[in-house]
Amino acid sequence: MTTALVTGATAGIGAAFARRLARDRHDLVLVARDAEALRRQAAELHDRHGIEAAVLRADLSTDEGIAAVEARLSDPGSPVELLVNNAGFGLKGSYLDVPVAEELRMLKVHCEAVLRLTTAAAGPMRRRGRGAVVNVASVAAFLPRGTYGASKAWVVQFTQGAARDLAGEGVRLLALCPGFVRTEFHQRAGMGTENVPGWMWLDADRVVDAALKDLERGRTVSVPDARYKVLMGAAKLAPRGALGGLSARAGRRYGPRRGEPEA
Ligand SMILES: NC(=O)c1ccc[n+]([C@@H]2O[C@H](COP(=O)([O-])OP(=O)(O)OC[C@H]3O[C@@H](n4cnc5c(N)ncnc54)[C@H](OP(=O)(O)O)[C@@H]3O)[C@@H](O)[C@H]2O)c1
Repeated sequence: MTTALVTGATAGIGAAFARRLARDRHDLVLVARDAEALRRQAAELHDRHGIEAAVLRADLSTDEGIAAVEARLSDPGSPVELLVNNAGFGLKGSYLDVPVAEELRMLKVHCEAVLRLTTAAAGPMRRRGRGAVVNVASVAAFLPRGTYGASKAWVVQFTQGAARDLAGEGVRLLALCPGFVRTEFHQRAGMGTENVPGWMWLDADRVVDAALKDLERGRTVSVPDARYKVLMGAAKLAPRGALGGLSARAGRRYGPRRGEPEA
């Protein structure tokens, strides 16, 4: 039995990863801030699938939180074969409306934590000659969408670069780029989603199935669902300036101008 560590495991996409990995008979280390939610989830997964589910309460917007997870990933006595860097959040409001301290908190969770945890996991994986890291980005990585999109673009670039550097060493890396997924994300950020058309919403369990299939196939970027593959293919061909306008128009159409919903 192998061990997987999932950050942001208690809700949404992270919870879907935890369910799927438990079903596949991985032992789990579940990371989030809410200790009670972690305990409940660990007990459920243990009872349903007979796997060992450990909990690690950590706030990845703090140095202590990141260091605690780094320590677990570096523990030679209990190797982690799959790391899922999934914890993340959105911020309601346009650039200059959001306090810079909040933007920095986002960069800490989306970029610094992803860098440090990938590094803590990938070293031991390389020494063992096997392992995998899934970094959850977003289709926002491919669109000019403020700090959120910029942070996710960093995740994609970083993951692809690291994947190339570790090619042939037995360590696989994947950047997962979903569109809108039904989770707690938008509600937690206070973003209205009533204007997002139904066809744009993805199911978290399906997103996870697609990601693990792409990881298995050796891809380094996964855009789950044919609808978003077409949209992102078109976005790649469009000039950057046109994308800025399109992105802003989509924001006006599918959500409030201030705090428009993000994927
Ligand atoms: N939903 C979408 O439409 C969508 C689309 C594309 C990409 N994504 C990305 O997918 C990832 C997961 O989002 P989701 O939609 O599943 O969100 P979600 O339902 O709100 O779940 C977020 C998870 O992250 C944890 N978390 C948040 N801040 C944390 C922190 N500082 N330290 C540790 N854990 C933290 C939360 O638990 P605690 O609050 O207990 O810490 C929770 O378990 C994010 O990186 C997001 O950017 C989401």
